[in-house]
Amino acid sequence: MAEDRPRYFSDQSDIGEAPPFTPGFGSTPPCLVGRDELIRKVCKMLDGDPASEGGTNILLAPRGMGKTVLLNEIEGAAQKERGWLVLAVAGTDGDPIAETHKAVVQARHAMAQTHGTPARRQVSGVSLGVGAVSAGVSFEQAPGLRRTSYGDDLRRDLGELASSATRVGTRVLLTMDEMHAVPLAKARQLGSYIQHIAKRERQALVFLGAALPYITATLLADRKSTFLQRLAVHKVDPLSNSEVRRGLREPILTHGGLIDDDAVDTASSAVAGHPYMLQLVGDKMWRAAGGPGKTITVNHAKRAVAEADESLQDHLFAPTWHGLSDTDKQFLAALAVLAESQESPRVAAVCEGAAIGKSSASAYRRRLLLSGMVSPGGRGRLKLAHPAIGPWLRRSLTSGSLRVPQRDNTR
Ligand SMILES: Nc1ncnc2c1ncn2[C@@H]1O[C@H](COP(=O)(O)OP(=O)(O)OP(=O)(O)O)[C@@H](O)[C@H]1O
Ligand SMILES: [Mg+2]
Repeated sequence: MAEDRPRYFSDQSDIGEAPPFTPGFGSTPPCLVGRDELIRKVCKMLDGDPASEGGTNILLAPRGMGKTVLLNEIEGAAQKERGWLVLAVAGTDGDPIAETHKAVVQARHAMAQTHGTPARRQVSGVSLGVGAVSAGVSFEQAPGLRRTSYGDDLRRDLGELASSATRVGTRVLLTMDEMHAVPLAKARQLGSYIQHIAKRERQALVFLGAALPYITATLLADRKSTFLQRLAVHKVDPLSNSEVRRGLREPILTHGGLIDDDAVDTASSAVAGHPYMLQLVGDKMWRAAGGPGKTITVNHAKRAVAEADESLQDHLFAPTWHGLSDTDKQFLAALAVLAESQESPRVAAVCEGAAIGKSSASAYRRRLLLSGMVSPGGRGRLKLAHPAIGPWLRRSLTSGSLRVPQRDNTR
C-alpha cells in the first residue's frame, strides 16, 4: 500500500484549484483539522537540545489516522520556517540504511552547492534554502555524485552532514515513515548512528518516525537499543466530533458549496473520528451534489456514507485483516458476531466465542488494540474501533469472501 503513496510537502499555493477533499493516503487536505497542538508539541521537542530525549520522536496511529500528513506538515515547518535540511525516508523503501545514506549523499551535495564544500564554507547563520531531500529522487539527476554503493559509511557521512549543518546554524531532521516495516537489525544500526552523532558528537541531528502502533510490541520493545526504547512516543488520536464537523463543512464552504445541518450530522457520525473516512465521505458528498454552488443534502450524505464504507473496507479493513495472525482473526471474528447485539462485549465472552483459552486473552486484546481494529470498551470489555467494521466483517464471513482459520499454530 505504502509503495504507491507519494510523499510530498504540502504546498498551499495552488489551493484555489485543489479539490476540497483528498481521499488518498499521504495527501495533505486543504483543511487539516485537530492537529495544531500535536504539530506544535512535536516541533517544540525537535527545536530543543538534539542530545535530549526530545531529539528523537515517533508518531503512532492505526492506518488512515494521518501520520504521513503530520510528517509532511512537520517536515514542511522544519524546512520552510526553520531552514532545516530534511531527509525523508520510508521504512518500506528497501534497505533503510542504504536509502538514508542516499538521502544523506544527496543532501551533502545540495549543501555544498549552497554553501560551498565544508572546507571552504564560511557562511554562518544563513537559512539553507535547499529543498527537502527525498530518498526517492534519482541520483543520476544530481551531477557530481559517483557513488555506487550505499550504507557502509552512513555514520560518517550523516555525522559530517550534521556537523556542516551545525556550523551554519541549522540542523538536520531525519524522518522515517512506515517505521514498523524496518527490520530490527537495521533499526538498531540506524539508532546507534543517530545516538552517536547527536549525543556523543553533539551535532544538530534530530529524528521523527511514524509507525503503526504494533511497533510498541516489536521494535520499541527491543531491550538492546536505547534509541528505540527512548523514542518519545506521540499518539495520533481520532478526531473529535467538532473537529470532524469543521473538517467536513469548512472545505465545502471555501470551495463555494453549501451543506445542510442534517447532512453534516449524518456524515460526521459515520466518520467516527477517522480522518481517511472524513476525506472519503466529504469527497463523495461533494461529487454527489455537483460541486460549487450546490447544496449537499442528507440524501447526498447517506449515499456518500454507503460508498465511503465500501472504500474503507477495501483500503483499510481488508489489508489490516490480512495482516493479522490466525488467532487474532478468530478473536476479531468472534467480537464482530457479539458486537451485533451489544456494543462492548466482555473479553471473556469473545474468548469463549472464538474457542480460545482465556489465559491468552490479554495478549489478543493487546494485539488487536494495536492493529486499530478494536478499542477499549470499559472494564474487561472491547468494542470495534469503527461502526463499519462489524457489518463488513459479518457480511464478508457469511459470504465467504473472508475466512477465519480454524487452527493457529503460529503464535
Ligand atoms: N487532521 C486531518 N484532517 C483531515 N483529514 C486528514 C487529517 N489527517 C489526515 N487526513 C486525511 O486522511 C487520509 C489518511 O492520511 P495519512 O495517509 O496521513 O494516514 P496514515 O496514518 O499515514 O495512514 P497509513 O498508516 O495507511 O499510511 C488522507 O486522505 C488525508 O488527507
Ligand atoms: Mg502513512
